[in-house]
Amino acid sequence: MAGLQPMKRAAIVGAGQMGMGIAYVTALHARVPLTLHDPSPRVLAASLKKLQTLFTRDVEKKRISSEDGEAAMSRIKGVEGSLVGGGAGLEGDTDLVIEAIPEIPDLKLALFRNLASILPAPAILGSNTSSISLTKLAAAAGLASGKGPADAESLESASRVVGIHFFNPVPQMKLVEIIPALQTSDATLERARAFGLACKKEIAVSKDSPGFIANAILMPMINEAILTLEKGIASPEDIDKTFRLGMGHPMGPLALADLIGLDTCLAIQRVLHTESGDTKYRPATLLVRMVDAGWVGRKGGKGFYEYP
Ligand code: CAA
Repeated sequence: MAGLQPMKRAAIVGAGQMGMGIAYVTALHARVPLTLHDPSPRVLAASLKKLQTLFTRDVEKKRISSEDGEAAMSRIKGVEGSLVGGGAGLEGDTDLVIEAIPEIPDLKLALFRNLASILPAPAILGSNTSSISLTKLAAAAGLASGKGPADAESLESASRVVGIHFFNPVPQMKLVEIIPALQTSDATLERARAFGLACKKEIAVSKDSPGFIANAILMPMINEAILTLEKGIASPEDIDKTFRLGMGHPMGPLALADLIGLDTCLAIQRVLHTESGDTKYRPATLLVRMVDAGWVGRKGGKGFYEYP
């Protein structure tokens, strides 16, 4: 959007596969310096290593110059610690936060309340949530003022919250879903849109409805594929082949569920089911049991397929 100031500094909360990918596009394409926060030193170190590998590969494949690769990596500073309480490592000029922590409602609500209390307006408080209501997250940010939800200070805090939802793998997927909460201001919405465009993504705007656009449609498809497997109708390979070769999808629904993470798919479906009350979002028992077993897909080495 012409005329909008670029972001000065971003903070990306959560260095898992989504946070890592968001750090990649923020540093390389939007050219915004950032802090990448995670409580686990192991996750943080793996994420920084993967980022270095991605930039190195971009240079080797001549997609970017070595100067651009080095500049992108130098914009990223890893910070060990949680922002659910406290603000350790958050730089004072941070004007954009994007959280990509696990899809656990209480954790996200606590994070937004804390972020609103430590980062003054007009810093934007963005969420990469796949399914949690932005309006609820904005209300949590409003609580930071200690006043009622209709108070001007609460409204200002809440107006800075917006959904900025990336897709996995973030470097490859060309879309960002932007989701305004009921409380989101037009200025926040436009700054989020400008940031998505700076990351070289196309934008789709969705109302704050369960699952927004993408997951309201994708999750029932994935769940139906799991039910098809559970009922013994076809093998994982044949279910996925049907979508790849019969419908031209880049990957079948079970391989995609493994890529997203079965724990994430389950968490999204649980939110959709609870929020909508619609039985079409009830997760397949097989999905629940696989997560119980710790088989969470590609990131854990085993899901519907094996990943040695
Ligand atoms: N993480 C990071 N990068 C990956 C990757 C992964 N898991 N898988 C593949 N890539 C990269 C490869 O390294 C390769 O990069 P280079 O060009 O730098 O070498 C590039 O993607 C292409 O990979 P391949 O040639 O090996 O394979 P491909 O052409 O089949 O593409 C794919 C792989 C991009 C994953 C493709 O299969 C695809 O588009 N799949 C669909 C993914 C999708 O639907 N994502 C959305 C999930 S929904 C979501 O994320 C939202 C939510 O809320 C749940």
